[in-house]
Amino acid sequence: MSKFQLQTRRLLLRDFDITDFDQVHEYACQPEVSRYMEWGPNTKDDTRRFLIESIGLNSKDPRLDFELAVILESENRILGGGGIHVSSRANNEGWIGYCFNQDNWGIGYATEAAQALVEYGFNNLQLNRIFATTAPGNKASQNVLQKVGMKHEGSMREHKLVRGAYRDTELFAVIKSDFQSSREP
Ligand SMILES: CC(C)(COP(=O)(O)OP(=O)(O)OC[C@H]1O[C@@H](n2cnc3c(N)ncnc32)[C@H](O)[C@@H]1OP(=O)(O)O)[C@@H](O)C(=O)NCCC(=O)NCCS
Repeated sequence: MSKFQLQTRRLLLRDFDITDFDQVHEYACQPEVSRYMEWGPNTKDDTRRFLIESIGLNSKDPRLDFELAVILESENRILGGGGIHVSSRANNEGWIGYCFNQDNWGIGYATEAAQALVEYGFNNLQLNRIFATTAPGNKASQNVLQKVGMKHEGSMREHKLVRGAYRDTELFAVIKSDFQSSREP
C-alpha cells in the first residue's frame, strides 16, 4: 500500500514507519515536549506503542485518523509529528494535534504542518469544523492555532486529570466558511 503524504514548502508529512523509532523517541522522551501534554515523557515502550498504534491507522478504510511524521525534506530528518482525526462524521468535525523535537522549535515548522493538516481536513476530508485543544499555559501552541485561522472558543474548566491534578483546557476551532473567506483574493 502506498504511503499517505502531504507536501508543504519545506515539509513532508507522511505515515509513520517502525524504522522511525529512534527519531520519534528522541523527542517523545524530552520532558519539555510533554510538559503540556497528557502523555510522556515516553519510555521506549510508550514510543513503540504509539508507533504501532499510529501505523495501525493506515490500513483503516475509510481512513478517518492520520498520525504522521513531519519530515524536513532538505535533510530527510524527522522534526516531529502531527495528526488529524475525524471525530464525528455525522457533524463533519475533526481535530488536529502536533508535537516537535525541542531542537526545532521557533522556526515556523508547526505552523506550516498545522496549516497543511487544516487544508487537508477542509479540502479532502470534507470537514466543516476543525478544533484543537491546549493546556492554558501552552502559548506557543495557541499561537500556532491562531496563525492557522483558529479562534479561541473558550475554556473547559478542570477538563483533564493530568498527572494527578485537574487542569483547564483551552478550545480553539476554525470552520469551513472562515477558511474559505481567508482564501478569497
Ligand atoms: C507548540 C509547538 C508545536 C510549537 O512549535 P514551533 O515549531 O516552535 O511553532 P512555530 O515556530 O510554528 O510557531 C510558534 C509561535 O509561538 C511563539 N512562541 C513560542 N514560544 C512561545 C511562548 N512561550 N509564549 C508565547 N509565544 C511563543 C513563536 O514565537 C511563534 O510565533 P511567531 O511566529 O508569531 O513568532 C512546540 O513548542 C512543541 O512541540 N511543543 C511541545 C508539544 C506541544 O505542546 N504540542 C501542542 C499540544 S496542544
